[in-house]
Amino acid sequence: MRVGMQGKIVLLYSLLILFAMQLSGVYLVKSLENYYLRNYATSQLAQGELLGNFIRRYLVKEEQQDELISSLIAEFGGGMTGTETMVLDRHGRLLGGPEQRSLSLLGERVIQDDVLLALAGNRVEAIRVDPDTGVRYYFLALPVKNMSSVVGVVFLRGSLEHIYLLLKEIKLILITGWGIVLGIAIVIGFLLTRTITMPIREVTSRAAAMAGGNFSQRIEVRSEDEIGELGQMFNFLTARLKDTLKEISSEKNKVEAILNYMSDGIVAFNKEGKSIHLNPAAQKILEWTGSRAELGLPGEVIFDKLFTPEEMLELFRGGSPSTKEVHIGDSREKILQVHFAPFKENGTLQGILVVFHDVTKERIFSLMQQEFVANVSHELRTPLTTIKNYIETLLNGAQEDPGIRMRFLQVVEKETERMVKLVKDLLILSQIDYQETKWVKEETDIAFLIYEILDQVELECQAKGIFLHTLLPQQPLLISLDKDKIRQVMLNLLDNALKFTPPGGEIEVRACEKDSGVCVSVKDTGIGIPPEEVDRVFERFYRVDKTRSRHSGGTGLGLSIAKQIIEAHGGTVFLESKLEEGTEVTFCLPLEKHSEDSWVSHEG
Ligand SMILES: Nc1ncnc2c1ncn2[C@@H]1O[C@H](COP(=O)(O)OP(=O)(O)O)[C@@H](O)[C@H]1O
Ligand SMILES: [Mg+2]
Repeated sequence: MRVGMQGKIVLLYSLLILFAMQLSGVYLVKSLENYYLRNYATSQLAQGELLGNFIRRYLVKEEQQDELISSLIAEFGGGMTGTETMVLDRHGRLLGGPEQRSLSLLGERVIQDDVLLALAGNRVEAIRVDPDTGVRYYFLALPVKNMSSVVGVVFLRGSLEHIYLLLKEIKLILITGWGIVLGIAIVIGFLLTRTITMPIREVTSRAAAMAGGNFSQRIEVRSEDEIGELGQMFNFLTARLKDTLKEISSEKNKVEAILNYMSDGIVAFNKEGKSIHLNPAAQKILEWTGSRAELGLPGEVIFDKLFTPEEMLELFRGGSPSTKEVHIGDSREKILQVHFAPFKENGTLQGILVVFHDVTKERIFSLMQQEFVANVSHELRTPLTTIKNYIETLLNGAQEDPGIRMRFLQVVEKETERMVKLVKDLLILSQIDYQETKWVKEETDIAFLIYEILDQVELECQAKGIFLHTLLPQQPLLISLDKDKIRQVMLNLLDNALKFTPPGGEIEVRACEKDSGVCVSVKDTGIGIPPEEVDRVFERFYRVDKTRSRHSGGTGLGLSIAKQIIEAHGGTVFLESKLEEGTEVTFCLPLEKHSEDSWVSHEG
């Protein structure tokens, strides 16, 4: 049986009380016994001495006065209840004693150790138990002396039963008292310990409720003692625990939000190699169609041939953090940088965190950059080589011939101009790229602007025998734009149209209001662009026929500059072309105002 704390305390406490009562009881009884015995002995001694003194003179005479002594003793003994008195002469003969018992023995010699010792002059005191009756007696053998010689012995024997009876009664009273006290003590003990165990039981049950997940537990604090402190501490603990849990849960929410909204994919595996987390970005990157509820899948299912079985094994053997680059996707190539980070607890591997970073764009961008640098160097090298060759030839003597000199210098000038144009175009592009362009918007009538530009190319058209006509709205069509930049766009488009249209061809410039915006198109009847290359002509340095374009002074940047400018206006540009029939480039600008911050307002 399980003994509760209450039982244990009460038991211990009762035993202590019992022990204390026992100890004090024994001490008390023993002291009382000693007291009574000493008292009794003293009174017996006094009696004996008195009798001794009284009969001394009879004993000294040594005459037969038995009867006299006998009556004296009887008289004397009568005054001492429960005491038997005997008197012996110097030879140990009984002279007198208690009536009936000793009458027959009168004159006989009593040979006993006590008597012999007393006759020798010693006082003998003893307590002895009668073996037949079990009664305790007090013996006193007192020598009666006359001038230092023993003349007789007074012998007293008194029953001590009355003392032991008294002690027995006292013991009984004590035991009864102990019983009552112990009973009361046990009751009080139970009540007292209840005040301790009750709150402990309450704390235990509340703690159990807390273990079950209910954290809104409070204990009523009823006292200011240790129990009260325990209650207070418990309340403090629950409050702290609640706070901490709230903190942890908000931290968890935060982490979850980060994981859900971050662009990097994260997959976490436990040490058995089963997935325990797969964030949306990872699902997207891995083109994972399973639901998130399907966690617990092994890595080879989630990574689906991304890694070889050996690599997977290596991964889960829990090595050190590593990074790897993988290519995925059948149609669209994707480049992923994969970081593996084992996560540990107390030095033992708990699992692996796999972070996917889509670096496709960066890679494409850096490739484009490399390509761009290569293109620029190439574009500059050609005119530079030409210039160098011509100048060398001139220096080597060709300058003597004025005709050749003139021709050569003209070539050098043309090539220099081409380089200047290239550098200018590059500058425009890089300014747009790095957002250093100052956009100056103005409410402009688009037709008016087009007329202005056409004035600039009219002569060239005439010279090339190309018929230029327009289809422009009669009413002013106001639109907010950067005049210089749009002029640049128009000139680029017209330049292409002129360049790629043979003499006798036509160029048509149209403008009209369309879908809450303005669309301007430049259409020619030129050589056109092969359909497979239409998409690429807006790329930097892209030219359909490189040598021809270069000969005609093109840099391959005209259309990409136009596209950048139109897009910066929030517009769109597209090109339609048919080989040998002609090309039409259209750009549309929205009528509504652009967000103010992307523009620098032109004052005045
Ligand atoms: N109107 C057009 N007709 C035929 N081809 C064109 C036309 N406009 C552009 N292209 C093609 O697109 C290429 C890119 O044009 P662009 O960026 O202006 O460069 P560039 O004019 O310096 O060659 C040209 O080299 C040309 O092959
Ligand atoms: Mg061009």
